[in-house]
Amino acid sequence: MPKYYITTPIYYINDVPHIGHAYTTCAADVMARFKRMCGFDVFFLTGVDEHGQKAEKAATEQGIHPKELADNMVGKFTELWKLLNITNTDFIRTTDERHRKAVQYLFNKIEGTGDIYLGEYEDWYCIPCESYFTDLQLVDGKCPDCGRSLERLKEESYFFRLSKFGEPLLKYLEEHKDFVLPEVRLNEVTSFVRGGLRDLSVSRTSFTWGIPVPDNPRHVVYVWFDALINYLSGLGFPTDERLREYWPCDAHLIGKDILRFHAVYWPAFLMAADIEPPKRVFAHGWWTVEGQKMSKSLGNVVAPAEVCDKYGVDQFRFFLFREVPFGLDGDFSKDAIVHRINGDLANDFGNLISRSVTMINRFLKGRLEKPENLAGTDDAFRNSVEGLVDEYEKDMNDFAFYKALQDVFEITGLLNRYIDSEAPWKLAKEDEKRLKTVLFNIWNGVRIATILLYPFMPEKTAIIWNALGKRDAIESTIFQNEKIFYHSEELAVIEKTPPIFPRVEG
Ligand code: MSP
Repeated sequence: MPKYYITTPIYYINDVPHIGHAYTTCAADVMARFKRMCGFDVFFLTGVDEHGQKAEKAATEQGIHPKELADNMVGKFTELWKLLNITNTDFIRTTDERHRKAVQYLFNKIEGTGDIYLGEYEDWYCIPCESYFTDLQLVDGKCPDCGRSLERLKEESYFFRLSKFGEPLLKYLEEHKDFVLPEVRLNEVTSFVRGGLRDLSVSRTSFTWGIPVPDNPRHVVYVWFDALINYLSGLGFPTDERLREYWPCDAHLIGKDILRFHAVYWPAFLMAADIEPPKRVFAHGWWTVEGQKMSKSLGNVVAPAEVCDKYGVDQFRFFLFREVPFGLDGDFSKDAIVHRINGDLANDFGNLISRSVTMINRFLKGRLEKPENLAGTDDAFRNSVEGLVDEYEKDMNDFAFYKALQDVFEITGLLNRYIDSEAPWKLAKEDEKRLKTVLFNIWNGVRIATILLYPFMPEKTAIIWNALGKRDAIESTIFQNEKIFYHSEELAVIEKTPPIFPRVEG
């Protein structure tokens, strides 16, 4: 069985999960479900990033130990992933013993080659971003990433010899044009590397909440060096068999703000340790809320559980990928989600399902037959549907979820027009043979649209699957078999389906 390894970032535990976290995790889940359906053995990893000064500070403010804070937050994340039907294979915590071992092993290994060395560091440090900046990088004396005030820090530090990896990285970027997607992000990374790389401080002595540097526990490992290694420790690095099966990773999904860590530092660490870099890093855009930046101080942070409560889990998942091309920024608003649910789901797809199921029941008592001769009149219709399925497959493999959903809604449009022009209610009175052919085509078209929507809306499509008379579980369906027009012997369409996508009010 071919393998597929996909990851989300591991989330900081100083913040409750919000739409940004849900976005990446749902995207990874959509891809994981799609790949499984295409016959891949998928390893899907998510988790939390527990160390660092930010976590330590947040815990101190609450008067608790950072581990206690992390334990509380892990509950919140796993609860949300359960609610959103996330099918992750494992959940990695950076306080796991397996992770500590992996980090210390890799640190030692790179130190052994001379690409980690002890030196002294002084520069501007941004606590929220856990990053140092040079004078040149500051914007009005503030952090260039988040705009907050900086502290001048000087410390003995271990350094990673990043400066040595500029050329190898450029070569890798040149030879792997789809290493970083979308293309605009690849350009960003390339110009960053071309601008020259300075050695990177990879340890801290100013706080203690982290993984101790092996043989020099006065230092803890820099939180990003620590965090990135989760992608290996989740597979049981350095000893586990799974490494050979799943590494190099097929896709790290991340937000655009953490691109440099994943597309520059991470492959360089791996090169230094003689480990293959990941195949792909996909950086998605950011959500604003009702046109504004999402922030705690504005009090407009979108809690995914509340949205799901109000509109439904699958509706929320669907909205995330139908509203905005994956890779671009987007805006979350009540009007937008209501519009999508009522338009695409209630009027379009939902209506198509109930019309089709009703007609198959009313006119054929729920029994379909494969027409003797399929060639002829409906070729164009069937070819268009199958052509769109091919597009969908390609788009999904490119992480073009927005386009993939457009393909599906072109199919539903074709089906609705086919129903209108063939008018089965008239054929029922005039031409039984033709009626059977038309309803056979409609059932197949609806079934195909349903399977294409499955990765986005696993719960609703499972209900529709049964309503279409399919007895196998939708999640164990094989895409290659389902993407074509076929005849199903034991077809019994359920009499009535409850409204699957009820209309919603704002
Ligand atoms: N802990 C690091 C990642 C380490 S991965 C080895 C981290 N954590 S985070 O919790 O701050 O952010 C996780 C992800 O959430 C990032 O990919 C970030 O882009 C994403 N988002 C945070 N706010 C977001 C939006 N408003 N919109 C979309 N995604 C956003 O960074």
